[in-house]
Amino acid sequence: MSDKNQSRDTFGSKFGVIAAAAGSAVGLGNIWKFPYIAGIYGGAAFLFVYLAFIVAIGLPVMLSELIIGRKSQRNAFGAFKVLAPGTPWKYIGILGVSAAFLILSFYGVVAGWSIQYIILSVKDGFSSKSPEEITSLFTALTESPVKPVILQLTFMLITGAIVIIGVKKGIEKYTKILMPVLVVILIGLSIKSVSLEGAKAGLDFLFKPDFSKLTGDGVLSALGHAFFTLSLGMGTLITYGSYISKNNNLVSTVIQVTIADTVIAILAGIAIFPAVFAFGIAPTEGPGLIFITLPNVFHQMPGGFVFSILFFVLLTVAALTSSISILEVVVAYFKEEFNMGRKGATYLATILISILGVLCSLSMGVLSPYTFFGLNFFDLMDWISANLLLPIGGLFIAVFVGWFFGRKKVREESANGGKLSGVALSAFIFLVKFIAPIAIAIVLMNKVGLLNF
Ligand code: TRP
Repeated sequence: MSDKNQSRDTFGSKFGVIAAAAGSAVGLGNIWKFPYIAGIYGGAAFLFVYLAFIVAIGLPVMLSELIIGRKSQRNAFGAFKVLAPGTPWKYIGILGVSAAFLILSFYGVVAGWSIQYIILSVKDGFSSKSPEEITSLFTALTESPVKPVILQLTFMLITGAIVIIGVKKGIEKYTKILMPVLVVILIGLSIKSVSLEGAKAGLDFLFKPDFSKLTGDGVLSALGHAFFTLSLGMGTLITYGSYISKNNNLVSTVIQVTIADTVIAILAGIAIFPAVFAFGIAPTEGPGLIFITLPNVFHQMPGGFVFSILFFVLLTVAALTSSISILEVVVAYFKEEFNMGRKGATYLATILISILGVLCSLSMGVLSPYTFFGLNFFDLMDWISANLLLPIGGLFIAVFVGWFFGRKKVREESANGGKLSGVALSAFIFLVKFIAPIAIAIVLMNKVGLLNF
């Protein structure tokens, strides 16, 4: 091993690895984004397609990323330079670093809203408000030119600070304790939500599929979201994989992280949709869905005051453990490819992303007249990254491991010297070689009109 490799940070324990990867996966994607896009694309039908993508594409691509990272001991770009020197594969890394910029730019804005909702909760700002007033509270916040910008910058500052502290100290510690608390809060919210009058319509919406409602856009969003929610397709888990020690069992890590992520998204759905229907909110409300729905639930709950503070604190923390994993992709790239120090790399990445983030925030208000393909800048960043860059990145990552890496190397990395059963290994190879790339290609081609379903 070279000196450079020995000086790399590694995660401290087996649980630390799972905590960090799950911390990256579980975030605004599960609690903010999943309910609102499921709401737009028809509920249960979307949920089932999304679950199918998680199993058939998410699991194998996640394992592929970890294999690439741990084998190469490099960042998302450098990994391909090490494993496939002199080939264009490294451009997947560039795609990933670009996706990180776009994703974190709008992610920070939403996390900023969450901070504002902590403040509102502490001030008891939801009680005695009608559902209409709670809706206008959200609109007024997001359209304001100052407050959300300051909050977004604050969030980016905290993200940068944690990334400077470094992977091990910064990432492992927080996730371990907070994730279980988040699950408890979501269960509490779900129980309340399900017991509201009119809740059944929400449960039907979420669990009784009507596949006739499914559109090509819905399927593409389900695919994009499968990548987004598991933090796949842009090298986050290549980067994290490079910090995982050689004796970690990657397969069991992948399965545990995927289960945790999926359970939390479904719990968020159960907490939101019954309440959406009970309060007469439109499921197609869009990015404001949770911010508009949940305050109504809190202020009808015994202990709602405490619950709402806890919820938004945890949502913000969940956003942080994800945002640091996104920033880390850019920082590791700057650090290793341009020989920058961790601090300098973090400053540079944080400043550049924050500038894009300001544009995202303003695009909800003063810049809203400027649209691209009918989307404001915020939605554009989200759309390009989740529905285009991540699936394309995922496709190439799967093809790389399936076709170029070879069964022997895959076995060494995925099973720490061959413990993985032959059947499981063959199933994995089959998924990354054929199923994942073909499925992604079909969904993308359908979108651009090359195929028509
Ligand atoms: N998965 C996180 C969430 O659901 C967001 C995230 C972190 C992410 N790292 C990523 C999304 C990498 C795509 C790629 O909130």
